[in-house]
Amino acid sequence: MEVIIRHSADEASELVAKIIDDELRKNPHIVLGLATGRTMERVYDKLVKKHREEGLDFSLCRTFNLDEYVGLAPDDPHSYRYYMNEHLFSRVNIDLKNTHLPSGIAADLNKECEEYETLIQRAGGIDLQLLGIGRSGHIGFNEPLSALKSRTRVESLSPQTIEQNACFFEDKSKMPRRAITMGVGTILDCRRCILLATGEEKAEIIAKAVEGPITSMISATALQIHPRCTVIVDELAASKLQGSDYYRWIFMNDPEWAPYR
Ligand code: F6R
Repeated sequence: MEVIIRHSADEASELVAKIIDDELRKNPHIVLGLATGRTMERVYDKLVKKHREEGLDFSLCRTFNLDEYVGLAPDDPHSYRYYMNEHLFSRVNIDLKNTHLPSGIAADLNKECEEYETLIQRAGGIDLQLLGIGRSGHIGFNEPLSALKSRTRVESLSPQTIEQNACFFEDKSKMPRRAITMGVGTILDCRRCILLATGEEKAEIIAKAVEGPITSMISATALQIHPRCTVIVDELAASKLQGSDYYRWIFMNDPEWAPYR
């Protein structure tokens, strides 16, 4: 695992967008794993800007999102399909046929989960997975006690996550209680992952995820065993990390990061 600390949320998001930009230019057929949520909005805005002003081309890439709420149709403004269309897909030249999210209204949800895994495999696996982190320590919607080998499945949301996301629903009681999510094992199979966290409210969980023991109580700790995981945080989200000086030293000295310093 590597940790990169950037001064502000804007700089942290810019770094994530730049990495995606570089990877997409290197491999236009890249398979991207995408996330939703407040943190990602800045990243998508920056990718849209790179598309419009620097010709970043999404026409050949394929995408798989981490999760979708159970019970919400794609045209429901609270669904993650709607979010992706709004924040990214409708603003760049991506072919919608190449974008995938599990359907939260499938008649057979378990079958939908199995098929989602098959689709990912058929695409050759995920090259670059973008991740946020919830206050419960979830990646995707892998709530506490999710098996570290779990695959795409229906997951009940924790009270903490319901509280975190209910503010998006005018009527909070309409916040779904379940979601389809890629499993921790599905995420660990991707070739590279980037976790972005910004703001003070993420400081405590970031410290646990990066420096705490690996535990299924905090799904993000599983990323410690991923061979290529980069955690990108702003100063606020980094404020409870013990090893910040060391992480900064690595970033300044590792030749891989020279183009990004
Ligand atoms: C969303 C997802 C979640 C979010 C996390 C952080 O697709 O998988 O894990 O990334 O809940 O959400 P925000 O950015 O809203 O704090």
